[in-house]
Amino acid sequence: MSLVRKRVLVTGGAGFLGSHLCERLLADGHDVLCVDNYFTGRKTNIAHLFSSPYFETLRHDVTFPLYVEVDEIYNLACPASPIHYQFDPVQTTKTSVVGAINMLGLAKRVKARVFQASTSEVYGDPTVHPQTEDYRGNVNPLGPRACYDEGKRAAETLFFDYHRQHRTRIKVVRIFNTYGPRMHPNDGRVVSNFIVQALRGEPITLYGDGSQTRAFCFVTDMVEAFVRMMGTGDEVTGPVNVGNPHEIAVRGLAETIIRLTNSKSTIEYRPLPQDDPTQRCPDISLARALLDWQPTVALEDGLERTISYFAKLLSTEK
Ligand SMILES: NC(=O)c1ccc[n+]([C@@H]2O[C@H](COP(=O)([O-])OP(=O)(O)OC[C@H]3O[C@@H](n4cnc5c(N)ncnc54)[C@H](O)[C@@H]3O)[C@@H](O)[C@H]2O)c1
Repeated sequence: MSLVRKRVLVTGGAGFLGSHLCERLLADGHDVLCVDNYFTGRKTNIAHLFSSPYFETLRHDVTFPLYVEVDEIYNLACPASPIHYQFDPVQTTKTSVVGAINMLGLAKRVKARVFQASTSEVYGDPTVHPQTEDYRGNVNPLGPRACYDEGKRAAETLFFDYHRQHRTRIKVVRIFNTYGPRMHPNDGRVVSNFIVQALRGEPITLYGDGSQTRAFCFVTDMVEAFVRMMGTGDEVTGPVNVGNPHEIAVRGLAETIIRLTNSKSTIEYRPLPQDDPTQRCPDISLARALLDWQPTVALEDGLERTISYFAKLLSTEK
């Protein structure tokens, strides 16, 4: 429990990461305002928090200004999976850019600290491995992922300009692949996709030859990093990479999930989508040094917890 009850705004609070963050902030003794337009977020993600007198929700789109009195803002609102952010790319860019302007404007007005959920996608298809924060990336500004990648890059620019121009207290983290319960079952992200297909006994669709690697961080570890970052002194602005540096080939992940679910699913290979990075792995030296943080949940433990979430979810769909 925290000694001081803060009023904390979480945008995108009904989403995957946001709902876990709201849960953690309430457990720490804070007063939480969850703001979401429910584009990809769901009320069921936060329904268990409704009974708390310190939890409040507001249906609101961050592309419109918001006037509330808060001490801290976590800006997570933005669809995060390609299927969702490419559904309405203009709205995705608006959410990142106008949403950032609105949250920074609010932070400036009420003198709140403001946290930005940026992404490893700001590195695009990286030519440097693992990625350190000073790597400037390799993003295609015209491709189908640009609405998300460039939107998040522009949001970072705004955060640092507000900091330089208005001394706004900013905290920018670059999130690498995160997984866990409450991921959207149909978002096409590799972990949720594989688990749902394995549980249904359907073929596991693997894009490319499966040798491309990813590094996956369990959601509770990620939320711990967020809270630690918000708790740093004003001189710490980021950007700080947060994620799991332990790489695994996507084919290996599919095989592990088949084993953990006792599934009869086979692997079906498909062509790699445009601009899909072949390798993505964080260098988390800075997070280790500044936040004394590193992931603690082993992949198989996290996968088992995620699998039991999806098994329960799919059983209620029948
Ligand atoms: N999960 C990951 O692996 C990952 C990796 C990198 C970055 N991130 C970032 O973390 C944040 C949360 O991601 P997530 O995985 O929880 O995704 P998510 O889609 O589950 O959550 C995003 C939430 O934002 C809400 N939202 C979208 N547009 C909005 C708008 N205009 N106004 C208000 N609410 C809006 C959605 O309804 C949803 O609840 C995102 O900003 C994402 O870019 C996530």
